[in-house]
Amino acid sequence: MYPSEAVNGRVYVVRRMKLEDTPKVVEIEKEAFPENWAPTAFHRELRNKYMSYLVALKRNGLGDFHNTNNGSTLIASSPEMSKSSPDGGGLKEWLSNFRHFFVEEKSGAPADKSITGFVGVWFMLDEAHITSIAVEGLHRRKGIGELLMISSIELASLRNSRVVTLEVRASNRSAQLLYEKYGFHRAGVRRGYYTDNNEDAFIMTTEDIGSFSYRAGLQRLKMEHQAKWGESIRILA
Ligand SMILES: CC(C)(COP(=O)(O)OP(=O)(O)OC[C@H]1O[C@@H](n2cnc3c(N)ncnc32)[C@H](O)[C@@H]1OP(=O)(O)O)[C@@H](O)C(=O)NCCC(=O)NCCS
Repeated sequence: MYPSEAVNGRVYVVRRMKLEDTPKVVEIEKEAFPENWAPTAFHRELRNKYMSYLVALKRNGLGDFHNTNNGSTLIASSPEMSKSSPDGGGLKEWLSNFRHFFVEEKSGAPADKSITGFVGVWFMLDEAHITSIAVEGLHRRKGIGELLMISSIELASLRNSRVVTLEVRASNRSAQLLYEKYGFHRAGVRRGYYTDNNEDAFIMTTEDIGSFSYRAGLQRLKMEHQAKWGESIRILA
């Protein structure tokens, strides 16, 4: 049995967004951002080498994922993954130090209707900027936003980003609480940033995600998340 199947047979999976996921992701995007919604051009965005989109899925069992030992698809299945590759490379060697397993999707697996949330991350220089994060209304307050945040920070580590940043509406307190939980603090304000109501945006940023203190904090949060919501499979490569 896979460890992540331990909780009620449910598997929490985060993986790269595929083009076929677009209709469901656009649905979530439209529901989450009705104020100024215009569908993201995912057919273009998914080819942008500076952007990464991840989706979260909740499954009963592993479905179209299957075990493989070739390590071709990196997954992070356990809290140990909170550490970034110490030397910024040698990922396979680094992974081999930890309890983990590899899965890959069977080729041609259909787009997944069980997508419950997504996140977009833009990489520029030493910064990973979260451009969008949303969870379907029905599935909020179940740890999925956190799982997407954990995955984004892990991805940022793997891509050697130093900090993770984002902008958030001044009134969006629930999202700010999520970000504060993951060590984001206010670094500035963009006045009247949101054109629909002229609302300010808070610029939020983490400290150096490679620092000992940040890594230790993230590790603790991941352990707490796992204890509360069960293990997850995070396919980041
Ligand atoms: C923000 C959002 C992604 C959070 O997703 P979620 O799956 O509901 O969040 P989680 O269940 O993982 O919650 C994690 C933490 O976020 C904070 N949080 C999330 N929703 C909250 C709420 N309604 N009230 C208070 N705190 C909240 C809490 O700190 C929570 O930790 P806790 O459970 O220990 O209290 C989701 O509310 C959403 O999609 N909102 C609409 C889109 C949006 O505003 N995106 C942000 C744009 S900047």
